[in-house]
Amino acid sequence: MYTLADFRVNWWAGAFSGQARGKLKHADLTLLWSSVTGHSPETKLRRLVVWVTGASSGIGEELAYQLAKCGSRLVLSARREDELNRVKRCCLERSNLKEEDILVLPLDLLQRTSHADKAKAAVQYFGHIDVLINNGGRSQRSLFEETSLDVYQALMELNVLGTISITKHVLPYMTQRGSGSIVTVSSIAGLVGAPLSTGYAASKHALQGFFNSLRIELTEYPNILISTVCPGPVQSQIVHNAFTEELNKPVNAPGLQEHKMATSRCVRLMLVGIANGVKEMWIAKQPFLFVYYAWQYVPTFALFLTSKLGRRRVENFRTGLDADATYFTKAKRS
Ligand SMILES: NC(=O)c1ccc[n+]([C@@H]2O[C@H](COP(=O)([O-])OP(=O)(O)OC[C@H]3O[C@@H](n4cnc5c(N)ncnc54)[C@H](OP(=O)(O)O)[C@@H]3O)[C@@H](O)[C@H]2O)c1
Repeated sequence: MYTLADFRVNWWAGAFSGQARGKLKHADLTLLWSSVTGHSPETKLRRLVVWVTGASSGIGEELAYQLAKCGSRLVLSARREDELNRVKRCCLERSNLKEEDILVLPLDLLQRTSHADKAKAAVQYFGHIDVLINNGGRSQRSLFEETSLDVYQALMELNVLGTISITKHVLPYMTQRGSGSIVTVSSIAGLVGAPLSTGYAASKHALQGFFNSLRIELTEYPNILISTVCPGPVQSQIVHNAFTEELNKPVNAPGLQEHKMATSRCVRLMLVGIANGVKEMWIAKQPFLFVYYAWQYVPTFALFLTSKLGRRRVENFRTGLDADATYFTKAKRS
């Protein structure tokens, strides 16, 4: 007879098998729990209508591919229509989706007056939106003392107001149906301080505050999920596209990517979190993941530690070295 004791033994054996051990990495405990015991994105996200902003590169592009494989119908948005069409073609090649299952909807997050029409167009096309993933955004690589206030304004306009504006126009369709998910890609910099990214960190902290408050306002809609995703460093074009001291000045050296989490791993964990209704997701390789916990539980120690590491990062940046790859080691000149 199969007893409760057998079940327990089998569960623990399964949980600590090689495959599961691979899963026990890179995320906070709630998300890890979901990845071991929860629903799979393939079962939960199939045929859902998912709108991804920032779908033309990096995390958003990978979201499009993995969602397409799950069978989700997609609305792909960013400014560069040609890149969105490329992503759409790749989605069709890699999945069983049909041409009509993917809507390319070019959109500039800064053009807030266009957002109502964009949301209407998405709803008219598919009838509704199940999941909005607020992913589009830009980062920063510059010291506060050298950075123009225009850069701070641009970061807030894009990362904060652009995201809030899209949310404002999508949420009414969800409250009307009584269901939906709004998932916002924040950052580790939405929870902890990050040198060279004062404006970026401020914008992501603002998003955390906004969505944590909105979630509480929406408690009368138990089937509406408000979720924030806080990734650490992930491979993408984010440094290449970052703001610097002046609005149109490009980043000097976008830097190495090897030490960062693979985009596919980050996105897989995000989809597990969405499939299981996880409200805040921490996704990062060590030692970054340790920093989230330290910041929560031993803030004074975390501030001491991050100041030490941050000082090296600032020194390396000042001398023109790759500040991204050199959080933990002194950079060598190439
Ligand atoms: N990579 C990381 O290490 C990391 C870590 C934590 C959080 N994040 C967050 O992840 C999100 C995605 O970034 P990523 O790493 O994938 O960087 P990325 O490769 O540079 O992608 C950024 C996306 O945002 C879009 N975008 C930029 N400005 C826009 C605008 N004005 N209107 C509409 N779309 C705009 C870009 O498309 P167009 O240029 O075509 O408009 C692009 O698709 C961002 O919110 C970022 O803050 C990234």
